Amino acid sequence: LFAGPVDFIKGVVAMSGLPPADRVEVCFAGRSNVGKSSLINALTGRKSLARASNTPGRTQEINFFTLGEEKYLVDLPGYGYAEAPVAIVAKWQALLKSYLAGRSTLRRAFVLIDTRHGVKSVDDEIMSLLDRSAVTFQVVLTKADKVNRIERERIIEQVKGALQKHPAAFPELVVTSSEKGDGIETLRAIIAGLG
Ligand code: GTP
Ligand code: MG
Repeated sequence: LFAGPVDFIKGVVAMSGLPPADRVEVCFAGRSNVGKSSLINALTGRKSLARASNTPGRTQEINFFTLGEEKYLVDLPGYGYAEAPVAIVAKWQALLKSYLAGRSTLRRAFVLIDTRHGVKSVDDEIMSLLDRSAVTFQVVLTKADKVNRIERERIIEQVKGALQKHPAAFPELVVTSSEKGDGIETLRAIIAGLG
């Protein structure tokens, strides 16, 4: 587990509500339902710290968690399809983009990709936004338990190919299952190593 406690700080609905930019921050971005909140729960070993659900669009605010004294973990609303009213979705998508493009202390964005689906055009758009904003991002494949090894290898190659055109991409992928625990220790070590 992480050194130090993890606590929920606040849910943010506007850029003006962001906590002071005084800590190293890592965030979890990805399409609705890809498994962002579940990954935070797996990383922290707390089953329901971040609210996860089978309904795309569960997370509708930018949720800040403290990790010890020195970092924020940030759970983001999903992009792409969501089961919520269009006007509301548009508002949180705009907030999400403002956050990703304009948060000075954002040290790394983890871009989550479902191992069954690979990189979709909405993922590509977010990666391009991160390129333009010079935010280093790293792809985390999620729900690896849902595919066989051959399918997993195929998606890994597809993702690596898609990353070629993104200068802000960190080359190493992390393959995870929040359900089975695969890759969780690796990801914890990566986060712990970010100063
Ligand atoms: P939004 O907040 O709506 O954008 O979704 P999210 O990306 O936070 O996804 P969430 O963590 O809520 O998970 C969505 C669904 O996928 C839930 O039903 C989870 O139980 C399931 N899920 C998440 N991770 C895994 C995994 O590693 N394996 C399996 N089998 N299911 C998972
Ligand atoms: Mg969520």
